[in-house]
Amino acid sequence: MSILDTIIHKRDGKQNSRTELEQLVSGAVRGDVPHYQVSAWLMAAFLNGLTPEETGVLTDVMIRSGRSLDLSGLPGPLIDKHSTGGVGDKVSLILAPMVAACGVQVPMMSGRGLGHTGGTLDKLESIAGYSTELDEDRFRQIIQDCGFAMTGQSSDVVPADRLLYALRDVTGTVESIPLITASILSKKFAEGAEALVFDVKCGAGAFMKTFEQAQALAESLRESCRALGRPVVTCITRMESPLGYAIGNAFEVEESVTCLRGDGPADLMDVTIRLGAWMLVAGGVASTVEEGVSRCVQAIENGDALDRFVRNVNAQGGNGQRALEPVDRAPVREVLKADRDGYVQGLNAYAFGRAAGALGAGRMQAEDSVLPDVGIILARKPGDSVHSGETVAELYARDPARVADAMAWLADAVQIDDEDAAGDLPMILEEVAQLKD
Ligand code: URA
Repeated sequence: MSILDTIIHKRDGKQNSRTELEQLVSGAVRGDVPHYQVSAWLMAAFLNGLTPEETGVLTDVMIRSGRSLDLSGLPGPLIDKHSTGGVGDKVSLILAPMVAACGVQVPMMSGRGLGHTGGTLDKLESIAGYSTELDEDRFRQIIQDCGFAMTGQSSDVVPADRLLYALRDVTGTVESIPLITASILSKKFAEGAEALVFDVKCGAGAFMKTFEQAQALAESLRESCRALGRPVVTCITRMESPLGYAIGNAFEVEESVTCLRGDGPADLMDVTIRLGAWMLVAGGVASTVEEGVSRCVQAIENGDALDRFVRNVNAQGGNGQRALEPVDRAPVREVLKADRDGYVQGLNAYAFGRAAGALGAGRMQAEDSVLPDVGIILARKPGDSVHSGETVAELYARDPARVADAMAWLADAVQIDDEDAAGDLPMILEEVAQLKD
């Protein structure tokens, strides 16, 4: 069977066999299958879907494309959380040290920016010297010392996701439930966590735009975890407007520090604390989510979470104290202004994500590097009142042409109405726990 036949089968809506998927994935990782054939298969899979069985096989062959980490011997509990991707989503940077301060160890394997969404690895690497390329011994040692460590796919751990993720990012093949499921679970099963908490984003800035789509993705993740015997919690969370005020790599690190100091915005902290609380429940450290919430709040208030963050930055090659300082902003500044009086009803997170990408915070081609000091700082959030001509957001770029592109994305991104109907919408839309008794 040739790779061309594998692509044709998927193009024609047929099911790919295990042998076909193994040949495709292992050939791609070895470099024997060219990127254009992998991309063609990704588009066929995007358009025609994969059955649950194919999704399970794809996940399995992706895990087997490299080594799985062996974290046995760490005292644990070892629990991780993963987001399906959002805008301004810096939850992992706050949550990992917070949960570690409560006694749960977090072996976190994250991704880079994908589509219009930002990536945890890109954000962390905006900290000078911070390395997300850790070998297994170093990963284990940092978890032991700080309670959490942050790494990415590598040439020997889920290399298949590293490749497919980068190709999906630039071929318009991200928003697919089976491809997202296989991508996330291959990382999560290779990293050695005992239980998983998923933040399934839902809304304009998510890959799943409707609640029904988000439920289908959550069910797909739970189903695969059930089949592989891994306890799991799925939380569907609102992603209509950007989370917090900052969008862009270094800007999001700066806002994470603000959150760890106890001054975080309500929407971001609601999501972070709720997910953290579920991690404590999944790890047996809290017996109820309410108890988990109060322990997470305490870890922020008493400074333990911030202390863990500083220790982790030092351990992963950065300077922890310097990471607490305000970050540099690129020199070209433009202001997005309100075009009428009223209340902000919505800030379209997809448009803001695309605008941040246009400023240089994301990639247009696989080989692009992202810029740390560009992005957007919101001056208003949904529910806030605003007068015509007042600032809704500040944009920072290294060159004016990029600002023009970003402003084009934002032309219709801000919705202002006479009445405030946006205030206090719940951030957590659904929670389903599938944990062992
Ligand atoms: N996060 C991932 O790791 N992969 C996806 O496909 C989407 C979000």
